[in-house]
Amino acid sequence: MWPAIVSALFLAATASASPTCKVTPYDAAWPSHADWAALNASINHQLLSTVPVASSCWAGNPFGSSVSCSAVKEDWANAAWQSRFPESIDYPVYANNSCLPPNASGYLAERGCTIGGMPQYIVNATSEEQIATAVKWASERNIRIVIKGTGHDLNGRSSGAFALSIWTYHLRKLERNSAWRHPTTNASEDVYIVGSGQQWGNVLNLALEQGRVVTTGQDPSVGLGGYIQGGGHGPISRTYGLAASHVLQMRVVTTTGQILVANDAENQDLFWALRGGGPGLYGVVTEYVIRHHPVPYNVIMGNVLIAPKDGSNASAERSWDAAVRHLSALPDLMDAGLAGACMVATGEMATSFGSLREFTTGVVIKQVFWSFNSTPAAMEALVNPVLANITQAAGGNNSLTVSFSASNSGNYTSFYSAISGSEVAGGESLVSSRLLGRAELNDTPFYKQKEYLKIAMGSQNSTAGTYATVGLQGGPGVRNTPAEAWGALLPAWRSAYLHFISNGATVDSVAAGSPKLALESAARFNEAKERMWREWSPNSGAYMNEANPYDSNFKHDFYGANYDRLVQVKAKYDPSESLFVLSGVGSDKWDYDLDSGRLCRN
Ligand SMILES: Cc1cc2nc3c(=O)[nH]c(=O)nc-3n(C[C@H](O)[C@H](O)[C@H](O)COP(=O)(O)OP(=O)(O)OC[C@H]3O[C@@H](n4cnc5c(N)ncnc54)[C@H](O)[C@@H]3O)c2cc1C
Ligand SMILES: *[C@@H]1O[C@H](CO)[C@@H](O)[C@H](O)[C@H]1NC(C)=O
Ligand SMILES: *[C@@H]1O[C@H](CO)[C@@H](O)[C@H](O)[C@H]1NC(C)=O
Ligand SMILES: *[C@@H]1O[C@H](CO)[C@@H](O)[C@H](O)[C@H]1NC(C)=O
Ligand SMILES: *[C@@H]1O[C@H](CO)[C@@H](O)[C@H](O)[C@H]1NC(C)=O
Ligand SMILES: *[C@@H]1O[C@H](CO)[C@@H](O)[C@H](O)[C@H]1NC(C)=O
Ligand SMILES: *[C@@H]1O[C@H](CO)[C@@H](O)[C@H](O)[C@H]1NC(C)=O
Ligand SMILES: *[C@@H]1O[C@H](CO)[C@@H](O)[C@H](O)[C@H]1NC(C)=O
Ligand SMILES: *[C@@H]1O[C@H](CO)[C@@H](O)[C@H](O)[C@H]1NC(C)=O
Ligand SMILES: *[C@@H]1O[C@H](CO)[C@@H](O)[C@H](O)[C@H]1NC(C)=O
Ligand SMILES: *[C@@H]1O[C@H](CO)[C@@H](O)[C@H](O)[C@H]1NC(C)=O
Repeated sequence: MWPAIVSALFLAATASASPTCKVTPYDAAWPSHADWAALNASINHQLLSTVPVASSCWAGNPFGSSVSCSAVKEDWANAAWQSRFPESIDYPVYANNSCLPPNASGYLAERGCTIGGMPQYIVNATSEEQIATAVKWASERNIRIVIKGTGHDLNGRSSGAFALSIWTYHLRKLERNSAWRHPTTNASEDVYIVGSGQQWGNVLNLALEQGRVVTTGQDPSVGLGGYIQGGGHGPISRTYGLAASHVLQMRVVTTTGQILVANDAENQDLFWALRGGGPGLYGVVTEYVIRHHPVPYNVIMGNVLIAPKDGSNASAERSWDAAVRHLSALPDLMDAGLAGACMVATGEMATSFGSLREFTTGVVIKQVFWSFNSTPAAMEALVNPVLANITQAAGGNNSLTVSFSASNSGNYTSFYSAISGSEVAGGESLVSSRLLGRAELNDTPFYKQKEYLKIAMGSQNSTAGTYATVGLQGGPGVRNTPAEAWGALLPAWRSAYLHFISNGATVDSVAAGSPKLALESAARFNEAKERMWREWSPNSGAYMNEANPYDSNFKHDFYGANYDRLVQVKAKYDPSESLFVLSGVGSDKWDYDLDSGRLCRN
């Protein structure tokens, strides 16, 4: 009898110590205008009220955006442009499509323009002290905190309703220190010191001027924050490993208001967690010390196209076979020195990719290879036998078109501009992805691989079809990363060669009735893919930055064996749980309802 009462009292006490929901403007506990003004005064007046940039597209420009609606419409789909605004994110469906320009996907006139799913206030941070003051203030008041660098996040992790956002854009330090002292060994290290608001393109440009190369992604506008904390793969990760493994030190502001240095000598647990243990969870990083490498003296690029010859069933089946054989050949090619990216397309997407004359139920494969400090002949010697094999297995070239050419693409600068992406933003998307290694690609029976690939390529609209992006981003560089540089990266990266990102789920907030319903419906479609990944690769996982945030197995898939320790690190540095992100460490204890905007404990 007594113990039950005591534990009931105890539970009541804990409940009041950790409130059920984060505060919203509809709650009495929300700070008054005067309180916000006082915060503003205490952080050099760097507090912004959120101004949705597309407000100018709505009658009366309700929030007073200074950017004209025609400019907003024109640039809405440009990720680099989006990254310049304090509140904007690339995939606004995760901010509940709260204020869209007329021709954006998800636009509905009757939804109007509101702050809605965007943060209420934004700190335009220019110093660590401002951040410390603001996050301590907010966490003491039970207000949700989000962090935005570029807003590129695919899963909306840099936005949140009723939150205070820390915007790092103006933390733009960028300098080289060729005699930085390692904190434990005192060895001299040649490093770049980079503010967390920087974007990789700027870091790379400085490095290239100095004959060096850094661990960028494929797009220059990607920021350091989410990219490093989630892992960070790119054109040199096959050679040198992931971006998280290149960090020697970070400066971090915690939600308790402490300004910390995290490295191998101080706050090692935090340093460990921030290298691959997930973005936006442990504190606000303000500065990175990163390693770099000599720039390759040349880059060889090769282009492969494999397509069904016609619309026949036989050609289609041979193209699926070819896709399996091609993917299976990639681990050996990567060990032999190649990296790159492969696109696999179905339906009308395949027809246009392969310039086909007839609709196909097969796939078109477009592979780009690159290698450093090599020759076109060396690449041909590696790739030609694979293509000959694929052609031979298809019974000659009656059902498949197979083409390949390799050439010297010049220096790294011209190579990078050739591969760097279209910077597309403004869409509504939900992917499903997996890291694949030899267990999946070489040790799984051919017919099973073909079955799995067909599921991976599934599209909610099979006429339109879809595409997958398969990055050759694991392999030797990642596998050979020293243990002390691994941090909290998902262990499955060690044996991974390919990062397979599958599209095909439709996120249509207009058809579904709301962003929340659209995401939930796409997530239901993705469940078949997640089941397939678990069957094909039970011991692998997914790259959290480009994965399905509704994956019910996210603890295993995104964090693996590190999960429990990451929970402890988070509890230590963010005891108020002010930092919540979708599928983040500890997120299973919370429910973020995009429709009400409320973030509450389960
Ligand atoms: C066009 C494009 C190309 C891409 N290419 C690649 C690629 O080649 N390789 C690759 O690995 N990924 C790539 N990505 C995915 C990329 O890793 C994620 O979008 C990542 O979240 C970007 O980080 P960010 O800081 O720029 O974005 P943001 O949206 O600003 O932030 C993402 C997450 O990081 C957190 N965060 C940001 N800054 C900080 C900070 N200072 N302290 C603590 N938390 C912080 C945010 O809270 C959020 O949770 C690409 C994305 C896009 C849109
Ligand atoms: C903070 O102060 C500056 C300078 O007075 C002002 O421009 C800005 O609007 C204030 N922010 C808020 C949220 O009131
Ligand atoms: C929206 O309209 C502008 C011109 O007003 C155009 O430049 C832009 O490409 C359009 N965007 C989309 C997504 O249709
Ligand atoms: C989100 O959008 C839905 C549908 O438009 C709307 O009903 C809801 O109020 C919005 N919620 C927030 C927090 O903006
Ligand atoms: C943010 O602060 C910087 C530095 O003070 C300033 O130049 C910039 O205009 C501010 N941005 C906004 C949107 O207020
Ligand atoms: C680190 O090395 C430098 C250069 O050799 C030396 O001057 C300095 O005293 C060393 N510091 C420590 C703490 O050993
Ligand atoms: C080819 O035809 C068979 C039998 O009708 C069918 O099962 C199979 O799915 C078809 N393959 C493709 C790629 O369309
Ligand atoms: C060619 O195919 C055979 C059988 O599928 C396989 O064992 C061999 O490794 C392949 N060779 C290349 C170069 O892909
Ligand atoms: C088809 O294969 C034959 C024999 O290998 C070859 O001579 C011919 O050039 C190929 N045709 C095309 C279009 O690739
Ligand atoms: C790289 O090549 C381009 C085009 O040939 C050239 O303009 C540029 O100067 C080269 N850069 C370096 C660093 O050599
Ligand atoms: C499927 O895609 C096709 C081709 O893009 C399009 O015409 C059709 O309307 C789509 N169907 C649905 C149900 O969206």
